[in-house]
Amino acid sequence: MDLKACYDILEIEKGASLQEIKQAYRDLIRVWHPDRFPAGSRLTEKAEKKIKAVNDAYRTIVSNMGTIVPPPDDGMEVEDTGNTRIIAVASGKGGVGKTNFSLNIAVALKELKENITILDADLGMANIDVLCGLAPRFNLGDVIRRERRLEEVILEICGGIKLIPGVSGVEALTSIDKTDQLSFLQEIRKLESEGRFGIVLIDVGAGMGAGVTGFLLAAGEIIIITTPEPTALMDAYALIKTVLLKKPNADVGVVVNMVKSKDEAERIFSSINRITSSFLHKEIKYLGYIRNDRAVQLSVKKQTPYYLAYPNSKAADCIREIAGGISRKGSEMQHRGGIQSFFKRMSTLLFDSREEEEAKV
Ligand SMILES: Nc1ncnc2c1ncn2[C@@H]1O[C@H](COP(=O)(O)OP(=O)(O)OP(=O)(O)O)[C@@H](O)[C@H]1O
Ligand SMILES: [Mg+2]
Repeated sequence: MDLKACYDILEIEKGASLQEIKQAYRDLIRVWHPDRFPAGSRLTEKAEKKIKAVNDAYRTIVSNMGTIVPPPDDGMEVEDTGNTRIIAVASGKGGVGKTNFSLNIAVALKELKENITILDADLGMANIDVLCGLAPRFNLGDVIRRERRLEEVILEICGGIKLIPGVSGVEALTSIDKTDQLSFLQEIRKLESEGRFGIVLIDVGAGMGAGVTGFLLAAGEIIIITTPEPTALMDAYALIKTVLLKKPNADVGVVVNMVKSKDEAERIFSSINRITSSFLHKEIKYLGYIRNDRAVQLSVKKQTPYYLAYPNSKAADCIREIAGGISRKGSEMQHRGGIQSFFKRMSTLLFDSREEEEAKV
């Protein structure tokens, strides 16, 4: 498409500022948003075509200005009508037990009659599917690229836990255009309105990359896993600090893994909480601990969660207790939020961090 035609589509003069281009884009999307028209009608079809043209024009103009192409906010607030708790599980240092925690807490929450979905966004080595002896064919990235439907990607594990393999999903979220994003959000909305999600646990992975912090900032609740090791503690604190500086009201809880005793776990938690409250003026929550237990390693070899393979193990007892707390908190929550707005926040945050990176170069 030539540049002049692109400006015409956006109904602006050549030489308009980025601000004006974004505004024109938002205005047009607001008018032509397919959600405004009856589903399946001719008008919806027309609106979809129009939106595609507006998207293409916008991308062409902006990339011509030498800027990366942002997925611009369409100005239409996604209604937060869902009733899904989104809990992101992360750690500063790798290998502290996030994936084992996510899988086993999911099994324990399922036992408490919670409706659980795990989104596996961890790029580490031992993913949820490996711990369950599965090899998923598709992932969230395929859904975002509209090559698969979300329903085709979701697997059932351990007697009714839903698993969304998400490895390449993070990258896909930042690069999709508006029409694909809308269709993805609509699919999510459909499953959510059918009550298919209750708690979505996201195994986010370790570190402070854009993917990890994007998930943490977009999620409603954050669980940071650490071990008593000084390096793990330092990295946990650094991650908590990054999150709280960007989102001071974030709901952050800590689980101390691989401890010898309850006392040791409480000591470790107090030390992190002391630092966060004196330097960041913010209390974090203690969610519990998990004992260092050989049952964990044995269950990894068996490719079965220890909560099922060794239900009487010390690690399983600890997980049961943490799950009780998470479930009780859910029943006290007034409003859980929605998964749709989560994904929307996520793609905006990822875009923002990419823009920051670009600015540094
Ligand atoms: N409570 C525990 N007791 C004993 N070993 C444990 C415990 N929790 C985790 N482990 C062991 O630690 C190792 C790492 O666990 P896991 O893969 O869950 O960590 P992770 O944080 O997800 O790692 P990555 O950062 O690579 O994704 C595993 O081999 C597991 O057996
Ligand atoms: Mg992992």
